[in-house]
Amino acid sequence: MSVTHDVPTAEDGDLGLLGALGRQDPELAEVLYAERRRQSTTLQLIAAENFTSPAVLAALGSPLANKYAEGYPGARHHGGCEIADVAERLAVDRARDLFGAEHANVQPHSGSSAVLAAYAALLRPGDTVLALGLPHGGHLTHGSPANFSGRWFDFVGYGVDAETGLVDHDQVRALSRARRPKAIVCGSIAYPRHVDYAFFREVADEVGAYLIADAAHPIGLVAGGAAPSPVPYADIVCATTHKVLRGPRGGMVLCGSELAERVDRAVFPFTQGGAQMHTIAAKAVAFGEAATGAFAAYAHQVVANARVLAAHLAAEGLAVTTGGTDTHLITADPVPLGVDGRTARSRLAAAGMVLDCCALPHADDRGLRLGTAAVTTQGMGEREMRAVATLLAGVLRGDADPVAARDDVRALVTEFPPYPD
Ligand SMILES: Cc1ncc(COP(=O)(O)O)c(C=O)c1O
Repeated sequence: MSVTHDVPTAEDGDLGLLGALGRQDPELAEVLYAERRRQSTTLQLIAAENFTSPAVLAALGSPLANKYAEGYPGARHHGGCEIADVAERLAVDRARDLFGAEHANVQPHSGSSAVLAAYAALLRPGDTVLALGLPHGGHLTHGSPANFSGRWFDFVGYGVDAETGLVDHDQVRALSRARRPKAIVCGSIAYPRHVDYAFFREVADEVGAYLIADAAHPIGLVAGGAAPSPVPYADIVCATTHKVLRGPRGGMVLCGSELAERVDRAVFPFTQGGAQMHTIAAKAVAFGEAATGAFAAYAHQVVANARVLAAHLAAEGLAVTTGGTDTHLITADPVPLGVDGRTARSRLAAAGMVLDCCALPHADDRGLRLGTAAVTTQGMGEREMRAVATLLAGVLRGDADPVAARDDVRALVTEFPPYPD
């Protein structure tokens, strides 16, 4: 990879340790500055991304990164963990308070690790598990043959209705009765609507299955009171701490006290070794931020922005799945504008609009997946969402030259620096 070897300017800011890094290893420091510039001069519409606060970044870059802390607070396999214990207890207490959960495990290194731990706590290899099929928006950990989940368990996929795009509840019920799964997983990488957790609980109870909610995407909205919580319904809730929640990259597991010990053992020592204490400290910071009124306002604005963006994309001619969104996430088929998903993504990338392709249920081609968490963190509102929809559709239709659109994108994002100095 090559990056421009500009000398970092005052505009680049410091982000704490970058100064020391710049003096010792200018080559790598320049890579970090280049990434920072990329993030602040292009439009971040990836539904799983966000801008963490400088406080979260400070915790990530702190000396807790040096600490080995296998085990749990008060029961570690290493010495010198008394400060690490305080950090982890803070993170656990804040997660429990934030989500009203009896137990929280904040050690999973990622969302996938959290799901792995949930399966390890509840299942045996070969057990049948019902989950949203991958072509309909299931995650790799929901039964992909390329992933441990598909290799070790017998996954049965449910889907979304071809007309409405909504989860096919009749199919969930019928498959559950026919296949008697040991666990049912609800949650998705691309479902723009609220999951009906009460419905899934009812079906799980009817067939004697555990209910696992993989709430990686909506958990930040849940924290801010902008989406329903799976905690009262699911036996285990898995989540990421990045995405809308705006913490460091990582995972967590929430459950009732009766499963606490099984979940803890499933994380360590069953699936992980030493906890990453700097990340756990950063999770504590993010949970603290998420408990504030400012975060609730942000979470509601994320949804308001997504609704406006979805409506304007539809008005521009894209086929928006389910006709809109309840969350931060939108999926859409750009084909009505004369371009398939993959071509659309690269054309938009040339214009500085960064987003993902995704599977479109009941379609051959891939669509576009976009989200409003990062742009909302930057301070953009509904006016900017209308401008984004116009720019995006113009590029896809070929009305706007991507290079010219790139200047419009730069002008827009420059008004909303993610890390103002
Ligand atoms: C529903 C769901 N589960 C699990 C994950 C995995 O998270 P990670 O990439 O941190 O392993 C994701 C990530 O996008 C997700 O959306």
